[in-house]
Amino acid sequence: MRLRNKVAVVTGAASGFGEGIARRFSHEGASVIVADIAEGAGRDVADTLRRGRFVKCDVTNGDDMAAAVALAEEEYGGLDILVNNAGVTHVKGPMLEVGEDEFDRIYAVNVKGIYLGAIHGVPALQKRGGGVILNIASTAAIRPRAGLTWYNGTKGAAVTLTKSMAIELAPEKIRVCAINPVIGETALLTSFMGGPDTPEMREAFVSGIPLGRMSRPDDIANAALFLCSDEAEFITGVCLEVDGGRVI
Ligand SMILES: NC(=O)c1ccc[n+]([C@@H]2O[C@H](COP(=O)([O-])OP(=O)(O)OC[C@H]3O[C@@H](n4cnc5c(N)ncnc54)[C@H](O)[C@@H]3O)[C@@H](O)[C@H]2O)c1
Repeated sequence: MRLRNKVAVVTGAASGFGEGIARRFSHEGASVIVADIAEGAGRDVADTLRRGRFVKCDVTNGDDMAAAVALAEEEYGGLDILVNNAGVTHVKGPMLEVGEDEFDRIYAVNVKGIYLGAIHGVPALQKRGGGVILNIASTAAIRPRAGLTWYNGTKGAAVTLTKSMAIELAPEKIRVCAINPVIGETALLTSFMGGPDTPEMREAFVSGIPLGRMSRPDDIANAALFLCSDEAEFITGVCLEVDGGRVI
């Protein structure tokens, strides 16, 4: 049990990578708060964890983030790990066709969510004498694809924030890392593709991934487990590609 006695909040844990992370963390002994706007799916995930609770949480809302952290403290006695995983994108297409409201929404979830996670999560981590913040960024931050410009920018911000937060929080023994997944089989897939999920479309994406497949929630969860465990106690500011070689 590599996360025995640890308490984690995972945002966006109702599906996709976040669900995979929540399940893996639970399997390794952590108590997990599933924080998501999707109530039905989020409750279903939390109910199947060994020690898990669901909280309806919009990461763009400070009160919601505060409530997620408070639930971790009330139910399980504190917070050791915050995974900022919740994320949204615009559908792949010309940058000039993304409206202002959609731009604001993507930056609010993908970037402001990290800010609010810090505002409400760091004091809780400080009370425990340290901990880990893990941001789910993307290969989009470092090898952007055309047609996803504004989304790519949010992930660039996530990578820079990870490194800057890592420096600032190191004296507090709070490590801050990121994972950069390559395109994966989740609910966001068709938006990233910008069209229907056909074998030809998949082949076009997979042809740019040397290990020859898309990422899966287990790939991201395994990397998250390592980075959030005490095995990684001397690792901070790292943005780890989990991408089958895509960015080489
Ligand atoms: N799937 C990919 O190809 C891919 C690649 C690189 C990075 N990512 C990143 O991985 C993360 C997880 O995405 P996924 O692919 O698992 O997608 P997903 O859609 O399966 O999961 C995202 C989850 O976030 C939740 N969510 C959305 N807005 C929210 C909000 N305001 N507050 C709380 N929860 C909210 C959704 O309800 C959903 O459960 C995102 O940050 C995404 O940008 C995905």
